[in-house]
Amino acid sequence: MRFPHRHLLGIEGLSPAQINTILDLADTYVDQNRSPNKKSDVLRGKTVVNLFFENSTRTRTSFELAAKRLGGDAINMSVDGSSVKKGETLLDTATTLNAMHLDVLVVRHPESGAVKLLADKVNCAVISGGDGAHEHPTQALLDALTIRRNKGRLDGLTVTICGDILHSRVARSNIQLLNIMGARVRVVAPPTLLPRAIGELSVEVHHDMATGLKDADIVMMLRLQLERMQGQFVPSGREYYRFFGLDYEKLAAAKPDALIMHPGPMNRGVEIDSLVADDIHRSVILQQVELGVAVRMACLDLLTQHGRNDPA
Ligand code: CP
Repeated sequence: MRFPHRHLLGIEGLSPAQINTILDLADTYVDQNRSPNKKSDVLRGKTVVNLFFENSTRTRTSFELAAKRLGGDAINMSVDGSSVKKGETLLDTATTLNAMHLDVLVVRHPESGAVKLLADKVNCAVISGGDGAHEHPTQALLDALTIRRNKGRLDGLTVTICGDILHSRVARSNIQLLNIMGARVRVVAPPTLLPRAIGELSVEVHHDMATGLKDADIVMMLRLQLERMQGQFVPSGREYYRFFGLDYEKLAAAKPDALIMHPGPMNRGVEIDSLVADDIHRSVILQQVELGVAVRMACLDLLTQHGRNDPA
């Protein structure tokens, strides 16, 4: 199947078939990444630039690795060492990079919508590495691949997303993708950490882990996004952990074979107990990291298949 999108800025707008195309291709890249020869030449002659205005370990490294495994050139542009620090605007930065004939620009930015703004000004493919509290599409895709490889499907599963839903782009992208693919989505959070428009997101809302986790197939934990909070959203970390931190006692409400997921970075002892996070029988957190490289390889492959795009 031909991938019809020029950019990947969010899960919104993707069809079930397009999501399956990405996941099916990513499955093949999991095999490549596990083989002794991890390199191919799918991206030979192509240039991928990572432009991250926020910190990242997983997303930035895995995009760089993905581009290199596919035989492309990968450059990490450090915003701290760039002319952004001299006052250059986001759009001037974008058009400057565009003049260097890039093929893919991977962007993370603290403002929702900034990645779209930039995508409208360049003629290469743009992939969102996360924009504000809006979307983090490749995280949702790698989460979906992790679930599909472990459970064999997405449709009909009960997925409970717990924690700071209000500030989480991971939650937004996952809610959209899981709904598109026919999963049943629940969220568990204190009222202060839920968006006002949660009723429009096709999720079951719980404020109590016991009911939210009941018979769940997947338990997805989120950290408190302190960098996006203005003011006090929870009384204290200790109080939050008592009611919303995942430990074995709370996990007992979920199905006995429920998977534990977390996009990272984790704050152990705040949203998740270390024993649960490191449980080799239940936790797939490191598998999420592994599959993130394969998903990003699939995205780079699909978005460069038509060669260089025309200006918007
Ligand atoms: N999950 C995620 O986006 O992690 P990083 O912030 O380390 O990229």
